[in-house]
Amino acid sequence: MPIGFSRAIYYHAPPRSQSHTGSLIPVKKTYHHDVLIIGSGAAGMSLALRLAPELRIAILSKDQLRTGSTWLAQGGIAAVLDEEDSIDAHVTDTLRAGAGLCHDDVVRTTLEQGPAALQWLIDQGVEFTKDSNSDDFHLTQEGGHSHRRILHTADATGQAVSGTLASRVQEKSNIDVFEHHVVVDLTTQADSDSRSLRCNGAYVLDKHSDRVCLFQAKIVVLATGGASKAYLYTSNSDGASGDGIAAAWRRGCRVANMEFNQFHPTCLFHPEAKSFLVSEALRGEGAHLLLPDGSRFMHDFHPDAELAPRDIVARAIDHEMKRLGADCVYLDISHKPAEFIKSHFPTVSAQCLEFGIDITQQPIPVVPAAHYTCGGIVTDIDGRSDLKNLYAIGECAFTGLHGANRMASNSLLECLVFAQAAAQSIDQEISAIPEPSYTKAWDSSRVTYSDEDVVISHNWDELRRFMWDYVGIVRTRKRLERAEHRIRLLKREIQEYYRNYKISRDILELRNLAVVADLIIRSALLRKESRGLHYTLDHPELSQVAKDTILVPMNFAGQDIIVSKK
Ligand code: FAD
Ligand code: SIN
Repeated sequence: MPIGFSRAIYYHAPPRSQSHTGSLIPVKKTYHHDVLIIGSGAAGMSLALRLAPELRIAILSKDQLRTGSTWLAQGGIAAVLDEEDSIDAHVTDTLRAGAGLCHDDVVRTTLEQGPAALQWLIDQGVEFTKDSNSDDFHLTQEGGHSHRRILHTADATGQAVSGTLASRVQEKSNIDVFEHHVVVDLTTQADSDSRSLRCNGAYVLDKHSDRVCLFQAKIVVLATGGASKAYLYTSNSDGASGDGIAAAWRRGCRVANMEFNQFHPTCLFHPEAKSFLVSEALRGEGAHLLLPDGSRFMHDFHPDAELAPRDIVARAIDHEMKRLGADCVYLDISHKPAEFIKSHFPTVSAQCLEFGIDITQQPIPVVPAAHYTCGGIVTDIDGRSDLKNLYAIGECAFTGLHGANRMASNSLLECLVFAQAAAQSIDQEISAIPEPSYTKAWDSSRVTYSDEDVVISHNWDELRRFMWDYVGIVRTRKRLERAEHRIRLLKREIQEYYRNYKISRDILELRNLAVVADLIIRSALLRKESRGLHYTLDHPELSQVAKDTILVPMNFAGQDIIVSKK
């Protein structure tokens, strides 16, 4: 498909004349904190702000502080704020969108905390859009919701949330911010209270110095976001490479429901547009999906038409594009007053105008693209993972909230609610945790600078392309087996490269993407039914029993164990 989603390569090639050994690139520093938070999205920054102020906290970002999917969020955050709405209705809608796989208790507990979580954001200073003729907040609507319940800041909610939280974080003297620091792997030590291991920090590539340093902490929290970069076309930014999921898996944590990668129905289709989302809120405010001949088609697929759950809309578009051999479909809001469109959707209007599309006058060409990782690191209701003293929150976590298909605008809410739960639990337990013990320094003595960078760019492209072609919106066993074969070869090649050459952000991300792609493929092969976001032509029916796909890394015989249960 000739559309212009592309990826930036952050590789900074070192001078060729130098063949380095460890003596020239030593571990520069060891940092000591009480809590190490990896990720500065809504999950990571909320947690940093919620933790007790006497704790010394480090927060890491691969890029700047204001970044990740949080920065890109458009539509808003769902919570019950209208008198006519109810928690029961929000629960029912979430369960329905999740296609029978949500964990009911997690759904209810999370959604009940929605209004308080939103109030906390308002208290931090986030300015949500108000109704034009009253002082109430304007609530918008998105797919799957039976009520208007989405608080938003026009169509740039993420910038408002991320910007405000970052400002608050920067004001706190107990929080150290490390931008352009990329986690390589988690570190562990023997736990004195049990026969197992506990997490005690991470090796981190400092992009300023290009050196690997050691961060030690009593508690480590993964808030690294999703893995949609595993697909060729995505709404996500370049950093969405599933680093936290892969790192936790390498340290023995279970991972669940990775087959449920959500495809957003409407990303801008233009040769020069890179990963630009056209918010579902446009459909919430009355936009129609059109075929190239101008006719509407969503009524043929679901009674809620354009506001059906996201998996159904994305699949319908995919079906129509394949049936007609069309490059895209169209999203049309031009029947609404121009003033309304410009004030509600200033970001989408401006972005489209840059590509010569005036959305007040003409329909927007759109295609589905990978958007959200419903699966992730298995956690409990406080965000604890399987590894002692390691938490996971936000999109990298699997809490049971989203089931087989996340409902729009429930994700930022999950980040806020689980950040608070994790903060409470960490505050309670941290005083009993001893200081981390000595951890080996990063050893780069046997690596050299690569003269084969092409391995990275080639494998990156190949992986994302076969994931799109074989593990996409509509799957078959044969396609998945093809993908499985390729990922096996790729993983070997990538691992060899990782072992032999000096690390860069690109090889770290590629190594993680390969792990995550493998987990997605294996999970998809295990699911012998079609449910929510997982649709396979070999098993188009819904199974009577709803089960999570839980992958367990390496048993004592060196095999990954695969369990399927709810
Ligand atoms: P992110 O916000 O993605 O942050 C991840 C952080 O981890 C970043 O700081 C990154 O630098 C850091 N990181 C990752 N790997 C490493 C590493 N190895 N080392 C160091 N740091 C690392 N959801 C909604 O509820 N409402 C919406 O309106 C909405 N709109 C969306 C629009 C778009 C275009 C996209 C892409 C998503 C949208 N979503 C929306 C989903 C939602 O934004 C995300 O699920 C949510 O923001 C995830 O937050 P997070 O804190 O878990 O991760
Ligand atoms: C959107 O604005 O369409 C994205 C909302 C979401 O992913 O929750």
